[in-house]
Amino acid sequence: MIKGLYIHIPFCNIKCPYCDFTSITLYDENIFKSYIEILKKELTFYQNENIKFETVYFGGGTPSILRTDYIEEILNFIRNNFNVIKNPEITLEVNPKTYRYEDFSHLREIGVNRVSIGSQSFLEKNLKLLGRNHLAEDTFETVEDTLKAGIKNINLDLIYGIQGQSLKELEKDLEIYTSLEITHISAYMLTAYNETPLGKLVKKGEFKLPTDEELEAMYFFIIKFLKEKEFYHYELSNWAKEGYECKHNLFYWENVNFLGIGVSAWSYVGNVRFGNTKNLFEYMEKVKDGVKPVLFREELRERDLINERIMLGLRLTKGIDKNLIKNKQNLIEELKNEKLIEEVRGKIKLSPKGFLLSNYIISKLLD
Ligand SMILES: C[S@@+](CC[C@H](N)C(=O)[O-])C[C@H]1O[C@@H](n2cnc3c(N)ncnc32)[C@H](O)[C@@H]1O
Ligand code: SF4
Repeated sequence: MIKGLYIHIPFCNIKCPYCDFTSITLYDENIFKSYIEILKKELTFYQNENIKFETVYFGGGTPSILRTDYIEEILNFIRNNFNVIKNPEITLEVNPKTYRYEDFSHLREIGVNRVSIGSQSFLEKNLKLLGRNHLAEDTFETVEDTLKAGIKNINLDLIYGIQGQSLKELEKDLEIYTSLEITHISAYMLTAYNETPLGKLVKKGEFKLPTDEELEAMYFFIIKFLKEKEFYHYELSNWAKEGYECKHNLFYWENVNFLGIGVSAWSYVGNVRFGNTKNLFEYMEKVKDGVKPVLFREELRERDLINERIMLGLRLTKGIDKNLIKNKQNLIEELKNEKLIEEVRGKIKLSPKGFLLSNYIISKLLD
């Protein structure tokens, strides 16, 4: 059963230097309009699948570049053509300085009940270094407008590991984050992908990332700080007030079937993972011609399915069933001695240090 729906909106006002998501800088109402038509058409390709949507997630790119009428149009289309549970979680990613109170009011009317804001930091120094086109006060206003409109489930993104960032500055940021009436924080370590402008600056030594020791200290600090403020750490980079974990993202980590539509979107249906082309115009042409824009398709066999459960499940703080890796007893003991994993009531989970080395540990645990 497909329970989650992801919708990719690939347009942005600017391209941030660190970003490797599929997005182009473009503001053109005509293209937005035809993209929405195309999304609806792509959805019809899946009308015969076994679907009951419990979550809808508009991600990007910048979904909040679109007039809220377009969001309404898609949501109406989904409700009219698919099974949807009574109170689905509907999330929309919003960039600061895009939507105001009237937009959030409209979103609330049409059922959007979760907003994820790309705040990144409240310190102007960091926003500048990240090449963001908004100020801290824009984020304050966005949070205020969202709450005023009655949307109470709010995530704020935070990026840490920025050049010159001290623990004191991180603390200041976290103080501000947790002083706001929000339910969720995603804290990501800045990644300098090779092909991005940031990646190139790092390679030339013109942007200095913190050392591994500094990053470890920052991550541990975030864990400790947010715990004290009653944000429960439930996934590698995600913290929530009790009961406010992102249901949609949990579907990814718990191997639940989901459908992704839009350019570059990924899906997991039955035991097949597939991904759409990353080329916007190819994507639009294919769908117009009535062809699925799928470029990559992989059927998972039994062994792959177990590996996926290990790989995704270990991102969650609750960990995985020990039986999934019972053939790795020696390695488990080794990792336990190094304090990288912990065993609690039949579950194996990563320790905070283990989370930082998760790629390495997971690769060792897979068959
Ligand atoms: C899909 S992006 C879209 C967010 C939204 N467009 C914005 O920029 O405000 C979701 C989040 O991923 C995080 N992110 C993107 N690129 C990153 C990178 N290179 N390193 C760390 N975090 C990153 C940012 O926190 C961002 O808000
Ligand atoms: S970080 Fe967000 S706003 Fe910046 S380019 Fe990426 S998707 Fe667009």
